[in-house]
Amino acid sequence: MGNAVFAKDILAGKVAFVTGGGTGITGGIARAFAEHGAKVAITSRKMENLVAMKEQIESKGGECFAVSSDVRDYAAVEAAIAATVEHFGKIDIVVNGAAGNFLCRAEELSANGFGVVVDIDTKGTFNVCRAAFEELRKNQGQILNISATLHYLATPMQIHVSAAKAGVDAITRNLSVEWGRYGIRVNGIAPGPIEDTEGMKRLVPEEVKEKLLSRIPIQRFGRISDIENAALFLCSDAASYINGVTLVVDGGHWLTGTSLF
Ligand code: COA
Repeated sequence: MGNAVFAKDILAGKVAFVTGGGTGITGGIARAFAEHGAKVAITSRKMENLVAMKEQIESKGGECFAVSSDVRDYAAVEAAIAATVEHFGKIDIVVNGAAGNFLCRAEELSANGFGVVVDIDTKGTFNVCRAAFEELRKNQGQILNISATLHYLATPMQIHVSAAKAGVDAITRNLSVEWGRYGIRVNGIAPGPIEDTEGMKRLVPEEVKEKLLSRIPIQRFGRISDIENAALFLCSDAASYINGVTLVVDGGHWLTGTSLF
């Protein structure tokens, strides 16, 4: 984390279950939550990524439980959630960060290529929310879905992710209405271009970086810590009346038009 913006105990007593929590933006969220008092369970397909993040969190005195699962597989998600509850006793916060992405023109994208991203991002988000429902209801918990701004306008070579993230935003809004009555808040974050991430590597070739930067009103790429701060705020009691919102954290980028190609 960058500057200490929030009190170190802002999430004390909470247990968070973070998908895609081994690396990148959601890895940062897991680390930030642990640094602010939460016990954190991280899950993704690759155990080696999880082990590295667990070591990082524990080296700073945090508590972390690593459990591998593929969010496309409902039974595996249920098992990961059950293992987390067995380990930490409960779950208060779910962060859906597991995502797939690559650049591909619509006319070159196979049906399976489209489907695999929708399966990870959209179905994966539903699977985790659904499987965690009883825990979240019991604990008046909350959900944070990681989205994108790609679908606000049209983003060439990203039809699959645009469709998938539009679905994620629909899940955020629907569940905020359906589950608000149980005391569960459901919000999202739509990050812009965040440096030092797999997404940036996959989606922003070196030759378009300058062009992209010139379209960001704040005149810098986002940092993982920018997303960590937004996540800490939304998952803290400071946001207790915020429900059904997807907070854009992009320096104003999407308002300038997203097409680079
Ligand atoms: N361009 C076009 N199509 C692609 C592609 C690419 N770069 N990468 C994968 N696909 C297609 C495959 O061709 C396949 O379709 P087909 O069966 O018609 O050939 C389909 O997507 C599934 O690919 P596969 O490699 O079997 O899927 P996977 O489940 O192993 O991988 C991905 C999932 C494709 C999303 C992979 O990119 C991934 O694992 N990403 C995780 C990390 C990530 O994307 N992070 C960034 C987050 S912003």
